[in-house]
Amino acid sequence: MLNHWFERLCCTDDIYDWYFLPLYVSYRVIPTIDTGTTMEFSLKTSAPETSRSACQIITVSQPRKLGKSGQRVDKTSKGYLTAVLKRGDMDGKVGQTLLLGAVPGLNSKRVLLVGCGKDADMNERSFGKVIGAAMSALQASGARDAEIYPGDIVFKGRDLAWKVRHTVMLAGNSDYRFDALKSGKREKPTGIRKLAVVVDKAGAAAARTSMAQGHAISDGMSLTRDLGNLPANVCTPTYLAKEARALAKANKRITVKVLDEADMKKLKMGSLLSVGAGSRQPSKLIIFEYRGAAAREQPIALVGKGVTFDTGGISLKPGLMMDEMKFDMCGAASVFGTMKAIAQLELPINVVGAVPAVENMPDGIATKPGDIVTSMSGQTIEILNTDAEGRLILCDALTYVGRYKPRYVIDIATLTGAVIVALGKVPSGVMGNNRQLIDQLVKCGQQIDDKIWELPLWDEYQDQLKSNFADMANIGGRDAGTITAACFLSRFTKEYKWAHLDIAGTAWFGGDAKGASGRPVPLLTQFIMNQVK
Ligand code: BES
Ligand code: MN
Ligand code: ZN
Repeated sequence: MLNHWFERLCCTDDIYDWYFLPLYVSYRVIPTIDTGTTMEFSLKTSAPETSRSACQIITVSQPRKLGKSGQRVDKTSKGYLTAVLKRGDMDGKVGQTLLLGAVPGLNSKRVLLVGCGKDADMNERSFGKVIGAAMSALQASGARDAEIYPGDIVFKGRDLAWKVRHTVMLAGNSDYRFDALKSGKREKPTGIRKLAVVVDKAGAAAARTSMAQGHAISDGMSLTRDLGNLPANVCTPTYLAKEARALAKANKRITVKVLDEADMKKLKMGSLLSVGAGSRQPSKLIIFEYRGAAAREQPIALVGKGVTFDTGGISLKPGLMMDEMKFDMCGAASVFGTMKAIAQLELPINVVGAVPAVENMPDGIATKPGDIVTSMSGQTIEILNTDAEGRLILCDALTYVGRYKPRYVIDIATLTGAVIVALGKVPSGVMGNNRQLIDQLVKCGQQIDDKIWELPLWDEYQDQLKSNFADMANIGGRDAGTITAACFLSRFTKEYKWAHLDIAGTAWFGGDAKGASGRPVPLLTQFIMNQVK
């Protein structure tokens, strides 16, 4: 269905013109994309030695040690697996795999041995490598379904529920592809379509819950990745608004409200509106409300930067890799994905999602360096660099969510290139005004292996935002760019507990693997799940 776009994509003007014909738009030019993982998961408590699946995934830890289910399967096969290990074909290094066909005595068609390393060395990252290796080996095999035994992976400090959640989350995203905009015949999907998670009876109830959690996170990530990967001539603020309505339509607990430019003018969002001034795409402020608890329960608010394309504006960016600025709405996309995940889980909690969506373009009426705007909070801002636009849309959205009297506010933004200089592409950066909130988030990041790292938001840095003409400037010079961006936001978040996630280094992969990562949907969903109890 995405292919319908292709003929239209060649001409952006078309999309813009047709935008005025809502019926046509929804039917043809901007169809809702097909998201969600295609893999099916099921939970079983059956004995591994009687499995009839296309492939059993059996763990081997170093040195040459079969996991619990492996030992049982080995017995049924009269020591076939032990013999394979003895022969030296498989040592058990992390991520090593060996596919065996027709193991004598078994009903299953294949056995995939997957290495887990030394039991004592297991950690979140190697766990991910184990699942990743198993999934890509399956991808290359002819098996369409498989059984996995997450409880066999020895990991001190992580219980069965964690292992199941993590396995399903990773497996669900392992075959993610975004080929809807390639012409020609789409490649038939290979790899497995059904994954059975096998646990013992005692763990079944907990495993069922965490399987649902892993699946929801994986589905949320897929949506986030799809939105991120869409090109900016398709994924405009208007498109995001339409996707938001579709998400609300599919989930009875989600409602959505879209503020247009006239609405925002009335609210005096002069800062947000200044960013879209040079674009032909009208800006939107999308507000999700997820109602899972009583109305009097204070919500958690998520605010995601939705710059559908960032040219830099009049402070134009250099051309090299500018295409990657289509990913400048990944914070927004992570709000969509997290909303989807928590709705799927029907979590008994209230959550508000705010997405300021704009396109940052140069034009005759675009905002110019030196222009001064008044934010919704009343504070004035001297825009010294139109490429520091993320904070300009976030500040008004942050002021707006204050009306919900939120318990916590978390904003998510591809805000600064400087965070990549400081932290690389491993963790997202976190800063905020509440110790307990930041600590919780950091812990969540470890828990779900979607890491974040704190940078200091000390008062000294605030001085860098001084302006001779307005209450503040929108940039703080070359030094500590990630921190001064957070300092700017901190001036709009004084009334509640707030944390800021700078995901410029983690929201997408560059190079050959170019594409949205789905982060930090795992972190945000885990955080919200932890707030429920
Ligand atoms: N969207 C960019 C940040 C970005 C740059 C993310 C490169 C990922 C890769 C943001 O709007 C921006 O342009 N920030 C400027 C801020 C500067 C003008 C103070 C930056 O990082 O250079
Ligand atoms: Mn920018
Ligand atoms: Zn930007």
